[in-house]
Order: sequence, then structure tokens, then C-alpha cells
Amino acid sequence: MPAEIIDGKQIAEEIRGKLREEIEHLRQVYGIVPGLCTVLVGDNPASVSYVTAKNRACQELGMNSFHHHLPADTSAEYLLGLIGELNATAEIHGILVQLPLPPQIDERKILEAINPMKDVDGFHPVNVGRLMIGEEVFPPCTPAGIRELILRSGTPLEGAEVVVVGRSNIVGKPIAMMLVQKRPDGNATVTICHTRTRDLGAHTRRADILIVAAGHPRAVTGEMIKPGATVIDVGVNRVGTTESGKAKLVGDVDFASACRVAGKITPVPGGVGPMTIAMLLANTVKAAKLARGLPV
Ligand code: GUN
Repeated sequence: MPAEIIDGKQIAEEIRGKLREEIEHLRQVYGIVPGLCTVLVGDNPASVSYVTAKNRACQELGMNSFHHHLPADTSAEYLLGLIGELNATAEIHGILVQLPLPPQIDERKILEAINPMKDVDGFHPVNVGRLMIGEEVFPPCTPAGIRELILRSGTPLEGAEVVVVGRSNIVGKPIAMMLVQKRPDGNATVTICHTRTRDLGAHTRRADILIVAAGHPRAVTGEMIKPGATVIDVGVNRVGTTESGKAKLVGDVDFASACRVAGKITPVPGGVGPMTIAMLLANTVKAAKLARGLPV
């Protein structure tokens, strides 16, 4: 029997529906309009399309959306000055600097300049540290979306063998840290695999839940998957264009062969991608509530 598809688009839509109601409530009762400011440096086509989608999603939910598009040769000093201004602007509750940044800008310095209480990406070291010790405030958006997909697919996490392929700061490391926490949406046994892992298949075949964020197509194929496992494909690889001229996307998992073995699987597109934006919106609403001292 082919794997059940975990429909990230549908789940993200449900989450957005709930957020829309919450935003309306915040507006009517407290006069709060959550606001997100995105900052894009340069014209990387993938980054342009991600940032456009993030701003559009804010507007659709009745949030304020601000955007700064800076030239590729922007200096670190200029960007730091801008972040200082955004930190001091009350109607901006969340700041997102789209990564990667051009080589003349030190990414870490920029991320550390964002006020941690406006860091809706969850990339500031303070928020990374909070996540590590189980005091999560802003979980990074893609890992938060992955966790939500696992929970809503009905896959048990308690005691489950989770294998994460990829050790990036944006996905691999934080999702591993989240799922190992002593809490009902954690309690898993987590293994992180990476480019120096000796026998990748030996690890992935043990996984009840396999999360693949390797960064290249077909990093995982059907014979590397335990029958019945839940497979979360985080990859977004542009491989040519479709007939309508849009970028053709594939994940890091070979979908056709994986489908024949897995119990549940996320598609690309329509799996993790839409969840990332939904979680960004949720973090921005949370930031707006925390800024006003409201319970979250
Ligand atoms: N680049 C790729 N993913 C992300 C993300 O989640 N946030 C930011 N700021 N940049 C990214």
C-alpha cells in the first residue's frame, strides 16, 4: 500500500485559520496588530520568492508587513544600523533577515544584533540556548513546522527512534534538540547523521521517524527506509522548470521509491514548506503578545 501523504498545505491552512481569528481578537480587544519586518539583501531568486511569500502571508492574515530590500553590496554597518532602528520600532514585533547574506556581511553578527524578543526566526544565540535547555520561546520555523506535521500525522513521538539527516543550524540541530526534550511533544531517541556518517542506510533503516534535510536530491531512497516509517522531507531542490515556466522542485527523498515503503510521507512541494511560513506567523503573533505582557 502506498504511503499516506501528510498534507502540509492543508495543515498550514488550518493553522493560519486559527491565527486569523486570534489576530482579529488581538485587534478588537487590545488594539494590537502584529507586525513582521523582513530584510532582504541582494536578489537571490529563491530568497526573493521566500520573502515575497512571507509578506503576502502576513497581509492575508491582517498583520502588518514591512519590508526592506537592500542592494547586494550593502555594508554590515548599514545593516546593523537598520536592525537597530527596527529593534526600536514598537509596531514591528518580529524581524527576519533572510539568509544567506552576501559574503561581506558576517551572518552571526547580524543575527546577534536582533532583539531576542523580536527574533521570530529563533536564530539568536539566546533563543538557541533557550531551546537547548527546554525553555523554548521562538522555535525556529522549519523545525517547528516539522514537529507540527509529526504530531498532526498521529505518529507517536514518545520513545520513537528519530533519525535526522543533516546538521545545519537552521534545521538539523534544532529539530533534534526539540524532539529530545522531556515534554509530551518530544521524548524521542534522536540520532543526527551528516556527511561524515559512515553507513547512512544503517541509521535511516532504524528510524520510526526519518527527517531528511541533507540539501541534495535522492539523499534517501526507498531501500533506506524502515517499512511503515514516517518520512519528513525538508529538501527544496530546483531541478529545471515545469511546462508553465515555474521552477520544478524536488525534495531530498526519492519520492517514488520512498512511497512504496514508508507509512506516511510529506510531499515536495506541499509538505514542510507551507508549514515554515505558518510557524513564522505564529511566532510573530506570539512576539506581539509577549511585547504587551499578554499570556501565550
Ligand atoms: N533562509 C532559508 N531558510 C530561512 C529561514 O527560515 N529564515 C531566514 N531568515 N532565512 C532563511
